[in-house]
Amino acid sequence: MTHDNSLADTDACALARHAADGLARTPKQLSSSWLYDAEGSRLFQQIMDLPEYYLTRVEHSILRDQAQAISACIAPGVAAVDLIELGSGDGAKTLTLLQKLMQRSAPVVYHPFDISAHAIAELSQRFASELPQLQLTPTIGDYFTHWPTPSDVNRQVAMFLGSNLGNFRQLEAVSFLQRIRSFLRPHDGLLLGVDLQKDPSIILAAYDDSQHITAAFNVNLLRRLNREIGTDFVLDQFHHYACYSPLDGAARSFLVSRTAQTVRCAQLGLSVDFAAGECIYVEQSQKYTVPMIDELATAGGFQREQIFFDAERWYAVVYLAAR
Ligand SMILES: C[S@@+](CC[C@H](N)C(=O)[O-])C[C@H]1O[C@@H](n2cnc3c(N)ncnc32)[C@H](O)[C@@H]1O
Repeated sequence: MTHDNSLADTDACALARHAADGLARTPKQLSSSWLYDAEGSRLFQQIMDLPEYYLTRVEHSILRDQAQAISACIAPGVAAVDLIELGSGDGAKTLTLLQKLMQRSAPVVYHPFDISAHAIAELSQRFASELPQLQLTPTIGDYFTHWPTPSDVNRQVAMFLGSNLGNFRQLEAVSFLQRIRSFLRPHDGLLLGVDLQKDPSIILAAYDDSQHITAAFNVNLLRRLNREIGTDFVLDQFHHYACYSPLDGAARSFLVSRTAQTVRCAQLGLSVDFAAGECIYVEQSQKYTVPMIDELATAGGFQREQIFFDAERWYAVVYLAAR
């Protein structure tokens, strides 16, 4: 396993800069990228198993049931393929696809990377035991700055699963796709997992589960700030709030201050006042329609080549060809 050097001034410095900037804004905000410390990654694994969190289950079913057709998009011929997965997490869903992909004649090198060391350790262990014959180069890296060094000659296919693109606002999503496109050559591709617009109550339940695991996942961000940069958030003075707006197709999560209070960070000389009921905006999860996906793909420098749905059309895995 290698480590991206851009993370060398990690995490504490970058997190401190991020928190000082985000908590000074109106409305206050913190990026969901910071949710995945070891405890956050552990809680996210629990979320993926929740009955309400349909996303993982449905995406996994598409990758499993349509693995043959998806593999044909990734490796259409005999040319070797570098499969580059951004924000791979523990790689559980990708393993299913790779088992099928490896039956094709094209050799595959899998380059997963994730900002979470915990996720990469889990992935490395899983693949070592379940697919030991695969050529694998896991990296700890930030997908805003890192790109693995693949072979000059192999076809490259990037993967961005788990509805991760939905965490970006429209313009950020376009520039993220353009960034991916900038590393690809014509005829390379991107396999993208996107959540679709559906009954709002199904979507809302996914971000506000009855066992309150999502709440614990979000509040853990404050625990992380206390531990890594020395803030003094009192955790039970904040609660998780999620909403979904069918008007713009976005689910949003917030941490809400239960009382008027001041949070301090001596190390940073920071003092942040909260009014009772004031929110920290933590995460957006955009839900798409097929025309929205096409518009994003075109703006990002791609063209939709294939789209794979589950039986209920709740979710789509899209193969985009680099234009
Ligand atoms: C919603 S999970 C999805 C994981 C996996 N792709 C899946 O579909 O199961 C998001 C993953 O992205 C990772 N992540 C978040 N921000 C990141 C960043 N800036 N760079 C790299 N990975 C990041 C998290 O650590 C987490 O593993």
